[in-house]
Amino acid sequence: MRKLLITGGAGFIGSHVVRLFVNKYPDYQIYNLDKLTYAGNLENLTDIETRPNYHFLKADITDAAVIDELFARYEFDGVIHLAAESHVDRSIKDPLAFIQTNIIGTVNLLNAARNTWKDNMGEQRFYHISTDEVYGSLGEEGYFTEETPYDPRSPYSASKASSDHMVRAYFHTYDLPVLISNCSNNYGPNHFPEKLIPLVIHNIRNNKPIPVYGDGKYTRDWLWVMDHATAIDTIFHRGRIGETYNIGGNNEWKNIDLVQNLCDIMDELLGREKGASRKLITFVKDRPGHDKRYAIDATKIKTELGWQPTLASIEGFRRTAQWYLDNESWLEKVTSGAYQNYYSEHYSHYK
Ligand code: NAD
Ligand code: DAU
Repeated sequence: MRKLLITGGAGFIGSHVVRLFVNKYPDYQIYNLDKLTYAGNLENLTDIETRPNYHFLKADITDAAVIDELFARYEFDGVIHLAAESHVDRSIKDPLAFIQTNIIGTVNLLNAARNTWKDNMGEQRFYHISTDEVYGSLGEEGYFTEETPYDPRSPYSASKASSDHMVRAYFHTYDLPVLISNCSNNYGPNHFPEKLIPLVIHNIRNNKPIPVYGDGKYTRDWLWVMDHATAIDTIFHRGRIGETYNIGGNNEWKNIDLVQNLCDIMDELLGREKGASRKLITFVKDRPGHDKRYAIDATKIKTELGWQPTLASIEGFRRTAQWYLDNESWLEKVTSGAYQNYYSEHYSHYK
C-alpha cells in the first residue's frame, strides 16, 4: 500500500501516468496534485475520476505552506513529480514563470518530502521527471548518455537543469531517496496544441499554415507517451536510488520530414487529395537559441531495467492523428479563448 503523490497529473504526460497507476495499482492511493494552468485539463482523466483510489488536489507547487500542509495531512510515501512549465517558446517570452514553478516548486516539494520522511527514511521515493534538453544540443553525430555534462540553452531547459541539480543535492546532502529520468520528446493523445505534432494536426484540420521554424532541419527523438509512462512505472519501482536514467524512442526525425509525414497521414485520414496538406507548410523565422539535435542513448534503462519502447513511429503518428480527429471537442475546448491570443501573439513574431 502506497500513498503516492503525482504532480502535474492533469497535463499531457501526467494524465497518462495517473491513468496507468490508478488502473495497475488498485492498492495504491493516487493523489493527483495540479494547479490546472492553461496546460492542465481534468477532462484528460474523466475515465478514472470516480475510482476509489484516485484523488484530485488543486494546488500550486510554488506555495510552500500549502505543499507542507498537504504532506502533513496525507503523509505521502512516494512522489512522482511532473508539474512544470513545459513549453520552450513560452520560456523565451517569460523566463520567471519557469524559475518559479520548475525550480522553486521543485524545492518546495523536496523540503516537504524531507521534513515528512526525515525520521523514518526507507522505502519512500522522490522521483523527478526531467528532459533530455538539459544536455544541450548535439551535432549530426552522437547521443546523450547519463554522463553527458549539462549544457542547457533555453530558459526552460536551464530551469529543468537547475531542478535536477537540486534533486541530486537533496540526495547527497540529506539522503533523500531520489530518482531522476531525462526523456526525449513525447507524442500522443492529450498533447497540448502549442507543441509541434498536435499543432500541425490541428492546423491541417483547419487548413491553416503550418509554421516550420528556420530550415526545418532540426532533429528530435520522438517517444510514444504511453511508453514514457511505462518507463516511469519501471523506474519508480525498480530504479536504483540516487540514479539517473535516460529514456528515448530511438526514433529521430528532422522536423520537416516529420511534418511532411503528418501531412500525408492527415490527407489519407481526411480523404484529401495526396499532397494537399503539404501546401500548408510555411517556413517561418527561427526559434532563438534553437537546439539543433537531441538524441538519447537509452542503453542503461534497457540493460539494467529491461525497458524499451514498443510502438513504431508511423503507427504512433497515425494513432495520434486519429485520436485528434476522434476528439474534436477536446481540441476545440483547449484551443478556444486564451489559446487564440497565445497563437496570434506568438506567431506574429515568427513571420
Ligand atoms: P504539460 O505542460 O502538458 O503539463 C504540466 C502540468 O503541470 C499541467 O497539468 C499544469 O497544470 C501543471 N502545473 C504547471 N505549473 C504548476 C504549478 N505551479 N503547480 C501545480 N501544477 C502545475 O507538460 P508535459 O509535457 O506533460 O510534461 C510533464 C513533465 O515532463 C514536465 O516536467 C516536463 O519537463 C517533462 N518532460 C516533458 C517532455 C515532453 O515531450 N512533453 C519530455 C521530457 C520531459
Ligand atoms: O526534448 C524534450 C522536450 O520536448 C520537453 O522537455 C519539452 O517539454 C517539450 O515541449 C519538447 O520540447 P521541443 O522544443 O523539442 O518541442 P516543440 O514541440 O516545441 O518543438 C519541436 C520541434 O519543432 C523544435 O525543433 C521546434 C520545432 N517547431 C515547434 C513549433 C511549436 C516548429 O518548427 N514550429 C512550431 O510551431
